[in-house]
Amino acid sequence: MIRTRFIGTGSYVPERVVTNDDIARRVETSDEWIRSRTGIRQRRVLGEDETTSDMAAEAARRACDAAGVEPGDLECIVVATTTPDMPMPSCAIMTQHKLGIRGPAFDVAAACAGFTYGTTVVDGLIRSGLYKTVLFVGAEALSKFLDWDDRVTCVLFGDGAGAVVAVAEDQDVPASDPAARGILSSHLDGDGSFWRDLNIIGGGTKHPPTAQTVGQNLHYLRMNGRVIFSQAVRNLSSASEQAIAKAGLTPGDIDLVIPHQANLRIIDAVARRMKIPNEKFMINLDNYGNTSSASIPIAIDEAVRAGQLRDGMTLLHCGLGAGLTWGAVVVRW
Ligand code: ACO
Repeated sequence: MIRTRFIGTGSYVPERVVTNDDIARRVETSDEWIRSRTGIRQRRVLGEDETTSDMAAEAARRACDAAGVEPGDLECIVVATTTPDMPMPSCAIMTQHKLGIRGPAFDVAAACAGFTYGTTVVDGLIRSGLYKTVLFVGAEALSKFLDWDDRVTCVLFGDGAGAVVAVAEDQDVPASDPAARGILSSHLDGDGSFWRDLNIIGGGTKHPPTAQTVGQNLHYLRMNGRVIFSQAVRNLSSASEQAIAKAGLTPGDIDLVIPHQANLRIIDAVARRMKIPNEKFMINLDNYGNTSSASIPIAIDEAVRAGQLRDGMTLLHCGLGAGLTWGAVVVRW
């Protein structure tokens, strides 16, 4: 059977660092409040002349280098993002243009669950036999959609991109066999009845951009943090349990968990619910904040480069975002 393996990873974050103290100089908050409620210490923010596809292309180049493939070897490009350079064309096609290649390219939009959804889409493309080498990037620049005077949201997010090169590999062992490698299982879910609790309501067909919508700040991200918090804990745990069961494994078989990096308290609560020790959870949100669909691939790249994610280890990654959308994927490295 065909399985999807990630053979190279890369990431990129903008140079500009914004600390909690920097934000506290603008709105009524403090480093202590932000760190104790979220775990975040600082985040990276895109430069004025930089775009999401600039970050995606740089992360992609680094992933191709690590994989030992030329951009020209890529048969398809998929980018998970809800903050593309422009409504059209897609961020994926802009990324492809910057890599100097041609071929199919498209975006997947599932907000902070973008990497989890996109991994599943890429796995489908590869296992169906359509492509053998696919570049998959999670890239996001939510700083451009934040109301920097809204202390509830502006402290949470950061910008960045992470990429993986995914290839087809023929294997004849079941997912539960330790010799199996690559994506072993995935579980996706969603519930659109929560759309009001996390959104950027302006700029689309519901509220096309006008001087009035901009005047009303409809182009900024808004969130009901308490609802998102409790939904995240419940759904990340249940999706993870279902993905692990689909792979024929138990939570004890997971060597490393890379959750979407939104809030340390959400991650601690998921660890408690799933009875997986905190030490198995990779955390880097203190440095980058919530980079939405980029958070998991940035953390995967850091884990690979630091030797925390090694050949034969079983990885669980899971994410939840606006929609609500959520899911979990089990990968044997
Ligand atoms: N600084 C100081 N005070 C603040 C700040 C801030 N940055 N933000 C909110 N407060 C105040 C509120 O105004 C409120 O004050 P009040 O009691 O006078 O009204 C008080 O703090 C408590 O507010 P809560 O919303 O109850 O605070 P909570 O402990 O729930 O923390 C937070 C808020 C951090 C947003 C939390 O709800 C959360 O993390 N939710 C998940 C949101 C999230 O991660 N979203 C990301 C996108 S989805 C995803 O990636 C999973």
